[in-house]
Amino acid sequence: MKFLEERIKSEGIVLGSDILKVDSFLNHQVDPVLMARIGAEFAEKFRHLQITKVLTIESSGIAPALMTSFDLKVPLVFARKQKSRILNNEVFSTTVYSYTKQSENQISISKKFISANDRILIIDDFLANGQAVQGLLDIIEQAQAQAVGVGIVIEKAFQKGHQLILSKHIPLFSLASIDHLVDGKVIFSKKQEQADVKQR
Ligand code: G4P
Repeated sequence: MKFLEERIKSEGIVLGSDILKVDSFLNHQVDPVLMARIGAEFAEKFRHLQITKVLTIESSGIAPALMTSFDLKVPLVFARKQKSRILNNEVFSTTVYSYTKQSENQISISKKFISANDRILIIDDFLANGQAVQGLLDIIEQAQAQAVGVGIVIEKAFQKGHQLILSKHIPLFSLASIDHLVDGKVIFSKKQEQADVKQR
């Protein structure tokens, strides 16, 4: 999406060869007009899939996921990052390892908010190694619900997440796809190899 690529080019800060900082509109300060546009794009792409819930992980996934759920008129549920000692029988939970932060998070979702009848759209801000999406897919499986699509605001196509999701045959749609980061510049992917969103 041109509008997002332009924003990344003008405000993104490249750290080394693998981190893009977008604190001014997505990860710290949040631009609501941009989020509304992002939500509309995701909703249009996935609307035909009879989605019943939008799912993300706190915290930065919430803004784009909320705007998507607003457009689709379905609830947003976000997984909480919380310590295992407060987990109990009333939640689905799993462990997510972050290669970027080199830390482990237990994530959980109340069994009240996800069930076997749900057709779920996962939305997240970044796709790097795909561990966050993998964790959400794990929870969806525990609930015996169905993951019908994954929408990502910014994917780093040079890391493992893109292929991981495609290998599961889940439709993936990324608004901006980064081929690589070099000399402080963002090089976007020319062509996105994305699963066909119509197939489910
Ligand atoms: P993965 O889920 O795709 O495997 O990604 P990874 O564990 O490597 O990323 C861990 C956290 O770092 C995630 O946020 C993810 O969104 C973020 N992240 C990964 N790569 C980048 C990047 O290049 N730029 C920025 N800005 N963030 C990146 P999180 O820990 O869930 O944090 P938050 O949602 O609470 O902000």
